[in-house]
Amino acid sequence: MKYSILISILFLHFASGYFFKEKNQYIRIDLMRQKSPRRQLVNHQNILAKYGLDVKGPKPPRTNDTISLFRYMDNEFYGKIVIGKPGKTMNVAFDTAWDVSWVLSSRCQVYITPGCAGHNLYNHNGSSSYKENGTLYNANEGTYNLTGFYSYDNISMAHSNVTNFLFVEMVDVPAYMASNKADGVLGLGLRTGDYEPFLYTLYRQKKIKNLLFSVYLNRDPQSTKGGNIMLGFVDKKHIHIHQLPNGAKVYDNITYLQVDAGQYWMFSVDKIDLVFTKRNKTTFCPNGCKAVADTSSNDIIGPESVINQIHDSMNAKKFEDKWVVDCDKISKLPKIDLYLGGNAFRLEGRNYIKKEKNDTLPYFLCVSAFTPSSTTPTEGLWVLGGAFLSQYYSIYNINEKTIGFVRAA
Ligand SMILES: *[C@@H]1O[C@H](CO)[C@@H](O)[C@H](O)[C@H]1NC(C)=O
Ligand SMILES: *[C@@H]1O[C@H](CO)[C@@H](O)[C@H](O)[C@H]1NC(C)=O
Ligand SMILES: *[C@@H]1O[C@H](CO)[C@@H](O)[C@H](O)[C@H]1NC(C)=O
Ligand SMILES: *[C@@H]1O[C@H](CO)[C@@H](O)[C@H](O)[C@H]1NC(C)=O
Ligand SMILES: *[C@@H]1O[C@H](CO)[C@@H](O)[C@H](O)[C@H]1NC(C)=O
Ligand SMILES: *[C@@H]1O[C@H](CO)[C@@H](O)[C@H](O)[C@H]1NC(C)=O
Ligand SMILES: *[C@@H]1O[C@H](CO)[C@@H](O)[C@H](O)[C@H]1NC(C)=O
Ligand SMILES: *[C@@H]1O[C@H](CO)[C@@H](O)[C@H](O)[C@H]1NC(C)=O
Ligand SMILES: *[C@@H]1O[C@H](CO)[C@@H](O)[C@H](O)[C@H]1NC(C)=O
Repeated sequence: MKYSILISILFLHFASGYFFKEKNQYIRIDLMRQKSPRRQLVNHQNILAKYGLDVKGPKPPRTNDTISLFRYMDNEFYGKIVIGKPGKTMNVAFDTAWDVSWVLSSRCQVYITPGCAGHNLYNHNGSSSYKENGTLYNANEGTYNLTGFYSYDNISMAHSNVTNFLFVEMVDVPAYMASNKADGVLGLGLRTGDYEPFLYTLYRQKKIKNLLFSVYLNRDPQSTKGGNIMLGFVDKKHIHIHQLPNGAKVYDNITYLQVDAGQYWMFSVDKIDLVFTKRNKTTFCPNGCKAVADTSSNDIIGPESVINQIHDSMNAKKFEDKWVVDCDKISKLPKIDLYLGGNAFRLEGRNYIKKEKNDTLPYFLCVSAFTPSSTTPTEGLWVLGGAFLSQYYSIYNINEKTIGFVRAA
């Protein structure tokens, strides 16, 4: 099969030490993690709304303008890119849910649009490589519209660059954007129309050999090192190695799933087990359900009725907008097995519980990554964020329209 061949070729590159030396074919971006991410107002309305679903969550402190955008406003993982000439460094969320890429524009006036406050703004007048497009962009995100216009400029990151990349300069964003670290979004979604998403441009300009990327998220949620995103390649050092009975060491197999049509990395889940003991488990969505991979937040979102059962089984208590458990009981919590392509992908308590502390609380809160979405039907959509993706290295193959998961090393 093509994949194993592709992967073994990539691995050979590594093995020969050739891998990192071949210039401009492999790009590794360091991801940072926002230090004390404001957490998790339920935030995937944008995706869920497309499936006729609605998410009820606690309201943000400010007004009505942001709920649907929180996932973008509140993302934990971001990286750096440089736009234009001379370059302007900006923080962007590498986000699998967007196909369009955008950055905040210097035309965004802070006194009219407070969301631009405190951010790096892109001023195309200051860039000699800027080219005008000017077509208006307007995304109706439910209670708020993101508004801007298209522009071309050169983008560079890590040791590579693209010429004349088409992106949106955003001039109107929700106020809540002000508290976000990212100045924009680098869309890693799939192409659905005329607009050419970033990775496609990178590939067309021959900066990467393979039309794929992979994401490794740091398993230590307290660290500001968020992980890496590999553009154009799979890095085997992130794949778990197991020992065969004969003592030989081999890489775990990657499970590849077909993704559905559309911009999201959406795929089928066979079933989900809540595992107390080997013999005592509860199965959710026994006939299958859908999930999307989400690189922008730590949450695992599922139908409220299911998440409530999971939280009950953990003896989790509601604390403000979070679900918290007794920090001493983490090792005793039930396990969650997601079955993908016939294989079980297990999450244990220490994987889905995150210790959080803020300045006013003298102790840690042990917060569940599971987040209910109130109107998702029982067999509904799941969103697999960092709590899942940090256990499983994920590979997004645009060319083949597949997504792969393998235990991360
Ligand atoms: C949002 O807030 C503005 C001003 O604060 C108000 O005029 C508008 O009606 C509100 N919209 C919604 C949908 O609540
Ligand atoms: C860029 O220059 C044009 C014309 O000189 C001006 O109208 C525009 O406001 C400037 N834009 C910014 C963001 O400074
Ligand atoms: C950047 O932009 C300029 C002008 O559009 C172009 O000539 C150049 O080749 C671009 N690429 C790089 C990598 O600088
Ligand atoms: C400007 O951008 C729009 C939106 O992506 C695109 O359809 C159009 O072809 C572009 N126009 C030019 C002149 O590049
Ligand atoms: C967003 O834009 C759409 C159409 O462009 C409009 O119908 C809607 O009222 C706008 N919403 C807000 C909150 O401005
Ligand atoms: C773009 O990348 C090429 C190598 O692919 C390099 O020679 C060039 O200096 C880079 N340009 C910029 C502006 O970084
Ligand atoms: C991995 O795939 C190979 C080839 O398909 C197979 O022989 C092997 O049993 C698989 N390993 C595991 C652990 O499933
Ligand atoms: C399974 O385990 C849960 C949690 O420990 C317990 O409440 C339930 O009674 C057990 N069910 C069976 C059939 O043993
Ligand atoms: C810290 O936690 C307390 C209790 O949850 C909360 O009331 C307070 O708003 C939090 N402070 C910050 C800065 O997040």
